[in-house]
Formats: sequence, C-alpha cells, structure tokens
Amino acid sequence: MDFSLSEEQLMIRDAARDFARTELLPGVIERDNHQKFPTEQVKKMGELGFLGMMVDPKYGGGGMDTVSYVLVMEELSKIDASCSVIVSVNNSLVCYGLQAYGSEDQKQKYLTKLATGEKLGAFCLSEPEAGSDATSQKTTAIDKGDHYILNGTKNWITNGGTADYYLVIAQTDKEKKHKGINAFIVEKGWEGFEIGPKEDKLGIRGSDTHSLIFNDVKVPKENRIGEDGFGFKFAMKTLSGGRIGIAAQALGIAAGAYDLAREYSKVRKAFGTEICNHQAIAFKLADMHTSIEAARHLVMKAAWDKDNGNNYDMSGAMAKLYASQVAMDVTVEAVQVHGGNGYVKEYHVERLMRDAKITQIYEGTSEIQKIVISRGLLRD
Ligand code: CAA
Repeated sequence: MDFSLSEEQLMIRDAARDFARTELLPGVIERDNHQKFPTEQVKKMGELGFLGMMVDPKYGGGGMDTVSYVLVMEELSKIDASCSVIVSVNNSLVCYGLQAYGSEDQKQKYLTKLATGEKLGAFCLSEPEAGSDATSQKTTAIDKGDHYILNGTKNWITNGGTADYYLVIAQTDKEKKHKGINAFIVEKGWEGFEIGPKEDKLGIRGSDTHSLIFNDVKVPKENRIGEDGFGFKFAMKTLSGGRIGIAAQALGIAAGAYDLAREYSKVRKAFGTEICNHQAIAFKLADMHTSIEAARHLVMKAAWDKDNGNNYDMSGAMAKLYASQVAMDVTVEAVQVHGGNGYVKEYHVERLMRDAKITQIYEGTSEIQKIVISRGLLRD
C-alpha cells in the first residue's frame, strides 16, 4: 500500500497552503464579523485554478484528480472555511454535475466559464420542507413544449446571491415521485428569478447563503440536464462526490484548530511551565492528532475510490460522517486548550468551532450519512 503523494499533488497542496496563509488569513476575522463575501479571494482562486480543479482541460479546467482536490480543500479550510465551501460547491456539485451529465452545448456554454472562475455556480436542492427528505420537492417545473415554467422557493443556497449559474432541482410530474424530478441550469437575471435575503449564520459567515424564489421563470428545454426524470439521480450522484469535498473541509477545520492549539500550548505558560508539558494538555493534543489522522485516511480513501472508478457513495458518506464529528470535537478542545483566549476572536479557534457545525448539516446531515452507509451495508 502506497500512502505517498505525487510531486504534482504535493505542489498543488503547497500552493493552496501558501495561498491560504498569505491571501485568506489577513482578512478572515473581518469577513466573518461582517459577513463579507471574499470577492477578491474568489477571483484569485479562479486564477489559480481552484474553482474547476477536476474539470477536463478542454473545458478550461485543471484536469486534476480528487486527491489533489481534497488536499486543496483541507489547506483552504484550515484558514477559511467560508472560502472553501465556495470552492467545494463550484467544483464538486456544479462543475462535476455538468461535466458528468451535461450536454456538449451545456458544457461549452456554462462549464467552460465555471471551470475558470469567470462565473460562479450554485446547487439548489434544499427547500423549506425538503432538506433531508430530498424527494419531497415542492418547486415545480411544468413542461410547456420547448420550455419549462419554474415556480417555487429554495433555501440555504450557498453562493445564492453571488452565483451566475444555478443548478435547480424541481418536480415536473408529481405522480412519478422521484422519477418525475428534473435538474435545470438557470441564469441569474432571468425574469421571475428573485434572490431572497441573506441568512445571518452561526458559522461560515463569509459565504453567501440565500433563499431563492422562482416565479414563472421560463427555462429553455435545452437547459434540462439529462433525460426527463433524471433530476433526483443527478442530485444524489452529484452529492455523493460533494460529500468528499465537505469531508475534506471538516478535516481542514479540525487540522487548522489543532495546529493553533499545539502552537499555543508551546508558548502559553501555567504552573511554571509551557502548558504542553502538562499531561492534561499533551493528552488532548494526542487525541486530537489521532482522530485527525483517522479522518484524513477516510477522506483520502473516498477520494481514491472516486479517482479509481470505485463506488464512493459509502466511503464518501463515512468520510463526511467521521470527519465532521472530528471537526466538532477537535475545535471544542482547541478552544479549551486556549482557555479564555479561545473565546476571543483574534485567536481564530472560536470561529473554527462555529464553522465546524455546518459540516454535520449540509450536503446531508450526519443522520443522512448513516442512512447512506447502512443502506450500502445491507444492500447485498
Ligand atoms: N446514486 C445514484 N442513485 C441514487 C443514489 C446515488 N448516490 N442515491 C439514491 N439513488 C436513487 C435510488 O437508487 C432510487 O432510484 P430507483 O427508484 O430507480 O431505484 C432513487 O434514487 C430514490 O432513492 P431512495 O429511495 O434511497 O430515496 P430516499 O427518499 O429514501 O432518500 C436519501 C435517500 C439518501 C435520504 C436522500 O434523500 C438524501 O441524500 N437526502 C439528503 C439530501 C442532501 O444531502 N441535501 C443537501 C443539500 S445540497 C447542499 O447542502 C449544498 C450546499 O449548499 C453546500
């Protein structure tokens, strides 16, 4: 078994690490305080190729593997999980969805711009009454011959206000249940498409989360992704890969908090010595590091499965389930290691603790991951 990374993977990881330290760190507290979208940083990430990493170069992407992608996700998330969720949604939900299931015309028209970062994407599945229960779509897309008429509301949409292109899941034929669901590409600015107010969130506050309202929006038929009725499977298949990206985000949040706790414990003194010399702290560091390494192995295995053509529904769900729990546990402990300073914004760990929670909720809650894993286990 070979656990080593290739030269190319190491290079891209180091580039992401440098970028996160020099470009993301300086304004991260301010963006979090003011819920400020990282416009400049997203532009630079596009220039560096972080927004379309796995897309075929013929559509403007980096042509990289999933292992490289999770390495980048981990490095960005150590510093700024608001930026990394933007990267994750654009790469693993929007670009992947279009590359794997879009028509050639859709790829030429939309994917080429999304992969280079010229345009940003959003993935719109969740609704006020359809979060975990994704088949219960209330948004409708009525077939009118050469176009569909879209009506409904989507909730908690990452990049909701800043995206240019939206992949929207909607019910075309209620009788057919999940087999009557379709996925569409909708452009910002189309008549009847309104962006609702921005959510005031606990964490990932630099990212831009909105509800979206569709009021008789006319969507050309050529903007449907795949065959009629493919929308639910499209969402499920896309989310399976998305979960690997969020697992890597959770891993990065945990690793970032651990790095800060370890460094702090080497300089902070109590009872006559640096606190790392007390077993109360040293054992915490040992536990944190061990669980992070275990999470990293699950994340890498899921990425490797995807790169090697294996089924990754279960390995992605296991990676997300475990890494998101590790992100919560490790960030809480990192705050504890910092004592009173951990509760103060300038030390960064309280933000990482707030950011960690969403990794147990979006792209399927931890309970949803257990459904996916247990169904996978019991299938045969
Ligand atoms: N790949 C392909 N097909 C799949 C699939 C997958 N991974 N998972 C399910 N399907 C298929 C099934 O085979 C079935 O098809 P058939 O009828 O042809 O056999 C069909 O989909 C329905 O499957 P289920 O009966 O298993 O569906 P279910 O209603 O029991 O739901 C679920 C399954 C796993 C709970 C699913 O609803 C789910 O994943 N829910 C969570 C949704 C979610 O993750 N939302 C996050 C929103 S996106 C987001 O957060 C993005 C962001 O902004 C960051």
